[in-house]
Amino acid sequence: MQNQLINWYLENKRDFPWRENQDPYRIWISEIMLQQTTTEAVIPYYNRFLEKFPNIYTLSQATLDDVYKLWEGLGYYSRARNIHATAQIIMNDFNGVFPTTHKDVLSLKGIGPYTAGAICSIAYHMPLPAVDGNVLRIIARLYDIEENILEKRVNDEVTHIIQGLLDGINPSDFNQALMDLGATICRPKNPKCEICPISNSCIAFQTHKQTVLPIRITKTKKQDIHYVTGIVTYNDYIHIFKTESGLLSNLFQCPQFNVESPFSFIEAYTKEYGVTLHVVSHIKKIKHVFTHRTWYMDVYHFQLDQPVEDLIPINTLDQYAISTAHQKCLKAYHLYK
Ligand code: ADE
Repeated sequence: MQNQLINWYLENKRDFPWRENQDPYRIWISEIMLQQTTTEAVIPYYNRFLEKFPNIYTLSQATLDDVYKLWEGLGYYSRARNIHATAQIIMNDFNGVFPTTHKDVLSLKGIGPYTAGAICSIAYHMPLPAVDGNVLRIIARLYDIEENILEKRVNDEVTHIIQGLLDGINPSDFNQALMDLGATICRPKNPKCEICPISNSCIAFQTHKQTVLPIRITKTKKQDIHYVTGIVTYNDYIHIFKTESGLLSNLFQCPQFNVESPFSFIEAYTKEYGVTLHVVSHIKKIKHVFTHRTWYMDVYHFQLDQPVEDLIPINTLDQYAISTAHQKCLKAYHLYK
């Protein structure tokens, strides 16, 4: 399989300026630029950068502003800062020579396992995996990996598989072949299996799963929202109302506002309902986790100075469909079983 892939690569490899030679400096700059950026977008930036800074020495003499200027429009500007800082480090700690061991390369700013593997395999022919999204997709299809490729465990498994495949072959060609295969044939959508050089080794192709694999489940970052939530009473009555829209529409809820103190709650409540109320006591801090959202509710008891619409007798609370989040608040005040 590896030889089929490498032979295909040698005949079909894409022509890029960073493939002209194996100068680690040139490979380094290309790999940093290619992090999160397409080859098409990178090419003109890469050419301008190499023209202005053909080697580490010229780069180390540049100001950060000079580097930023050449990076303008490419995005992810921390990359420019890291490149600038790394050039100084190489001058000071490595006598101006790009480091030659995997450990030293990995120690440089802005260089993680993928980039270190890519640089060391391409520039130095070290048998190191360079696992990015392309490689995860290709290996998930080849080996029928049905787990979420965005999990670290799966990344480790794929790294291990690639490590095994690198034995006895040219790691520079192999890793770059994977990059090209991922970009042109084993694409995320509409893979071109009919012209793939390794489809005979691909389980996904053989079992018609190439459009299903890989499984990618992004863990959406939970959004945190802080509320002051009110147990708002008037004699034996409590204020709850039907939520109009959003997460809990059509369920009943206690009044709450995205504010920080019970005093801001009173201000917001009075503005909304036109009546005054006063805070009686702090009840509890309650955390409620939804799929994509976490509510932090600081629950207080407030008494109304005059009635408001939507009051219901406290002893009828159990007749209303109340969201779990607000049930927790009512339970905290022993109003709900
Ligand atoms: N993507 C990341 N590194 C690359 C490389 N060296 N060639 C093509 N695409 C890439």
